[in-house]
Amino acid sequence: MKMVFTNMFFIMSLLMLIIMLVDKIESFAHISSISSSNHHHNIMLMSQIDEVNQSICRRDNEHQRYDIKHKTINRRDMLIKNAILLSSITSRPQVSFAKDISIGSSSDNPVAILGGGGKTGKEVAKALAGEGMYGISMTRSGKEVQLPKPTKEYVQCYPDPVDVREADSILKAMQHVHASAIVYTASASSKGGTAFEVDDLGVANAARVAESLGIRFVLVSALGIDRPESKGYQMTNTLGGNYNGIMDAKRQGEERGRKEMTKSKNYIIIRPGPLISVKSKNGAADIELNQGDYIGGGISRDELAGVVIGALKSDKKGVTVEAYRRATRQKIQPQFEDRAGFVSDTYTGMFDNVKPD
Ligand SMILES: NC(=O)c1ccc[n+]([C@@H]2O[C@H](COP(=O)([O-])OP(=O)(O)OC[C@H]3O[C@@H](n4cnc5c(N)ncnc54)[C@H](OP(=O)(O)O)[C@@H]3O)[C@@H](O)[C@H]2O)c1
Repeated sequence: MKMVFTNMFFIMSLLMLIIMLVDKIESFAHISSISSSNHHHNIMLMSQIDEVNQSICRRDNEHQRYDIKHKTINRRDMLIKNAILLSSITSRPQVSFAKDISIGSSSDNPVAILGGGGKTGKEVAKALAGEGMYGISMTRSGKEVQLPKPTKEYVQCYPDPVDVREADSILKAMQHVHASAIVYTASASSKGGTAFEVDDLGVANAARVAESLGIRFVLVSALGIDRPESKGYQMTNTLGGNYNGIMDAKRQGEERGRKEMTKSKNYIIIRPGPLISVKSKNGAADIELNQGDYIGGGISRDELAGVVIGALKSDKKGVTVEAYRRATRQKIQPQFEDRAGFVSDTYTGMFDNVKPD
């Protein structure tokens, strides 16, 4: 009897051992099939996990300085983030990390506004909030930007100065907030620097940072940049003081910006006409985009901000457009032939048929 019992125990143990071995072999086969097909991807994701961990720890340390009011990132968040990243390693089809994070989708990846304290910068902040997109206003002085309460739900103010004349200051700030895009609305000012410092070199600095971080760059430039012989160009170019040569500076700035982003082409340049104070009535429906610097007109800053949002959301790359209110459209020079523009009911839609530079 004892012998039978001992034999049964032996057979059961053997069976258990075989089951465990088969299980191990199967899971090993599964892992190796995943890892052979996605070896590089997994290494990439693991390093991203590491990066997320480091950045979260960094943010924990800097939490008070950065004043993230509505979000406390703690170990639990860290574990959840890791779990999400890990599940994307094993689930198929593989979804790339970058695709999961769309522009301004959370306060963890805000749209950074350079020159955020300026008139257009503030309108961009409002427009972002209006779209439910997250942003962060950055200013030369680091002073708090006065924004309406509902805007503040989505757009915070970066507490340190971000001077576009210093590439390091831009890079540090973008890395700190994990910016998902840069909107450049800075321009020469009495205290902020000359046109060549802000509208030329500053643009190059910001574009270089955007390229190095692999993020989108939207530049607010000006109509008529390619028409140095036009009256408008010459008048604006000789405003004097820090604004002297502003059209030349903007022209060079655009060129430098494109050059800095040759690889990714992840930029859109918007050239508004004169910025008018009469606010938008019908939003996108009143606006037209054009290309080639033939046609232009006035546009209000809230409409311009709408075009910026369209540029952030559009999947177009390496594009330069003029933006104006349809009711004010006219040829930049009388001898130009008329050119049909791009219109849509939405600010994003009007980019659908634009051509790359
Ligand atoms: N006004 C028009 O009719 C017109 C027409 C076509 C295109 N545009 C262009 O549209 C854009 C927006 O115009 P806007 O009138 O709305 O702008 P704005 O109110 O003059 O704002 C420009 C902002 O740039 C900031 N700035 C200056 N130097 C800086 C620096 N070194 N670092 C960081 N920020 C700096 C200024 O800050 P501080 O004041 O603190 O220095 C200011 O807040 C500009 O590029 C402008 O040239 C304007």
